[in-house]
Amino acid sequence: MATKWGICSAGKVSRDFSVAVNLLPSEEHKIIAVASRELTKAKQFVKNYKLDNTKAYGSYQQLADDSNVEVVYIGAIHTEHYKLTTLFLMHGKHVLCEKPAAMNSAQLDEMIRLADKKKLFFMEGLWSRFFPVYRQLRHELDTQSLGTVRYLHATLGSPITGVPRLVKKELGGGSLLDLGIYLLQLACFVFEDPPIGVESTGSLNEEGVDEKVAITLHYSGNRTAQLSCDITMWLPNKAMVCGSKGIIEIPDKFWCPTSIVKDGERKDFPLPKGEFIERWFNTPGFQYQAAAVRESLLKGELQNASAPHKDSTLIHQLMDTIRKQIGVHYDADGPIPNSNPSYSVNATSYSINAQMIDFGLVGCNGDVNCDEGVKGDLDSDVNVGSDDDVKMDSNYIVNGTADIKMNGKIDDNMDSKGTRCQCTLKTIN
Ligand SMILES: NC(=O)c1ccc[n+]([C@@H]2O[C@H](COP(=O)([O-])OP(=O)(O)OC[C@H]3O[C@@H](n4cnc5c(N)ncnc54)[C@H](OP(=O)(O)O)[C@@H]3O)[C@@H](O)[C@H]2O)c1
Repeated sequence: MATKWGICSAGKVSRDFSVAVNLLPSEEHKIIAVASRELTKAKQFVKNYKLDNTKAYGSYQQLADDSNVEVVYIGAIHTEHYKLTTLFLMHGKHVLCEKPAAMNSAQLDEMIRLADKKKLFFMEGLWSRFFPVYRQLRHELDTQSLGTVRYLHATLGSPITGVPRLVKKELGGGSLLDLGIYLLQLACFVFEDPPIGVESTGSLNEEGVDEKVAITLHYSGNRTAQLSCDITMWLPNKAMVCGSKGIIEIPDKFWCPTSIVKDGERKDFPLPKGEFIERWFNTPGFQYQAAAVRESLLKGELQNASAPHKDSTLIHQLMDTIRKQIGVHYDADGPIPNSNPSYSVNATSYSINAQMIDFGLVGCNGDVNCDEGVKGDLDSDVNVGSDDDVKMDSNYIVNGTADIKMNGKIDDNMDSKGTRCQCTLKTIN
């Protein structure tokens, strides 16, 4: 029996996804309804993209109320993902939600919890993971054909600042959530375990969202990922995975690739053929993702092993950390905590296998409390005196900021008038 899809929102990516799914065998996939906030837009969508016998709804609620819809693809802008996923899960639908599935990890945690509670399938649309190139890469990594992989380099950029949803804060703008997520999913795919340190820098537009971000992820065993995204200009848009025995390159569009080069030898994986519409790149590849969702549904799985909840969780935690480091805050994050009389210290460097962080503060005296997003026990006293150490457990994700509650003297590193202070965190191994 065909998987019965509902499409939530009639925007550009919904169009690409729908056209791709509509070209899959109709006994396997059927788009039975499309919803937009405007009925005319939904009707136009159904007509334009030749979706036969597909209902058009003028509200997302009507799609949720349609008992025939089995799984909803959410192609609305980022800021709506949490609300819409919740709506459809509450109405008993499985959900495939475009990336980023949420604005932050707190939202994502709730979405996953709800899906689990309702025993419904939920997946973030990390479509990259379903391209045959990623299967090939997984094979190379699993068989250790590159030896020990210690370095990943990937960049993704294109000049897209003319698109409102990418630059406006209230629409969830910013390069990290839109493009950077592809870099992070690749890093999580290659290295699998969480990084033990995160360093990032970025530049923000006048709205306070990032136009470009450069990220270094530190992993145990001297493994590193260097990643950059940019919405103001083109970057090479390729990835390199480097190991002790060789190099794999994904030479073009690493997030939706059709070829892989290992030690100079190229292997191509042509896209499915058909009358696809290209809004962006390689949109026939949406078929791979849709087919994987169907497979999971047939098996009764609540998540797909190629884009599991744990990966989305880690990716969102990393995006939270990076946003804190570069100073991007969305309404969904809640009010900015007023740390006065605490001092917020921006972490800019970490090293590996840290059991201790040296806050490098001289003459300070107080408690260190790391705020949300940090895994592990980081609460500790800072001793009076110089170069105070903070004990922490090793199984953690560094958040990048820590509130230092000051009781005593503040030295020159601290701006005693402000509530923020730039300070390099370095680890002592
Ligand atoms: N996987 C990929 O390759 C890929 C590619 C592009 C984008 N995406 C993701 O897909 C999502 C949508 O991107 P897009 O480029 O398709 O955007 P888009 O063309 O602007 O469409 C987004 C849709 O969101 C709906 N929407 C709901 N509330 C809205 C609001 N308050 N303001 C504006 N629109 C609202 C609108 O649908 P209605 O008017 O019909 O209700 C709109 O058409 C983003 O999260 C993006 O990250 C993924």
